[in-house]
Amino acid sequence: MIQATSSLRPLTNDDLPALIEIEQKVHIAPWTAEHFRAELEKPYSEVLVMTDDETDAQISAYIVYWLMFDECQILNVAVDLPYRGLGLAKKMLRQVVTLADKKGVHRIVLDVRQSNQAAVQLYQSLGFVISRVQKAFYSNGEDAYGMTLSLIDDKIEF
Ligand SMILES: CC(C)(COP(=O)(O)OP(=O)(O)OC[C@H]1O[C@@H](n2cnc3c(N)ncnc32)[C@H](O)[C@@H]1OP(=O)(O)O)[C@@H](O)C(=O)NCCC(=O)NCCS
Repeated sequence: MIQATSSLRPLTNDDLPALIEIEQKVHIAPWTAEHFRAELEKPYSEVLVMTDDETDAQISAYIVYWLMFDECQILNVAVDLPYRGLGLAKKMLRQVVTLADKKGVHRIVLDVRQSNQAAVQLYQSLGFVISRVQKAFYSNGEDAYGMTLSLIDDKIEF
């Protein structure tokens, strides 16, 4: 079911089964419920889920990031398969960038598999640049691109 309108809100424990189901469909190395629970315990971690405005029950996407001093690190971004290509990932990231900017964050960083062209293009479309390559970063030996969005030099305009 495609959602007419959707919004981000914080993850609750009740959301975990749905989140884990999506996680297993979309990631090569999916997080477990324990990974998400551990994030809920960290004061600097935010886990936001995107749900439909009508029922607030249907999760279409989510994002996990850390806010630490002047840096924001994005750890997980996912959109469930039926909701791809609708601009949801861009919408989530724009909200996080705006929020981080308001909190005085200087840069947003993340790591992405070199083979993940959809994600690399998504981040580049928002102004992220590839700032480093980390050899054999992932457990299957794949390299990572470290990508960075600087919030201090440029005015953020989406
Ligand atoms: C990557 C992902 C989050 C994109 O979600 P999405 O909601 O479909 O993306 P959007 O609709 O917001 O697309 C925004 C931009 O991303 C890029 N993009 C998204 N999907 C793409 C694809 N399949 N191929 C190429 N570029 C793509 C495009 O630049 C697009 O802009 P455009 O529509 O103007 O061309 C989604 O495919 C996903 O969940 N993948 C699996 C998990 C993952 O890889 N997460 C990132 C880990 S770092």
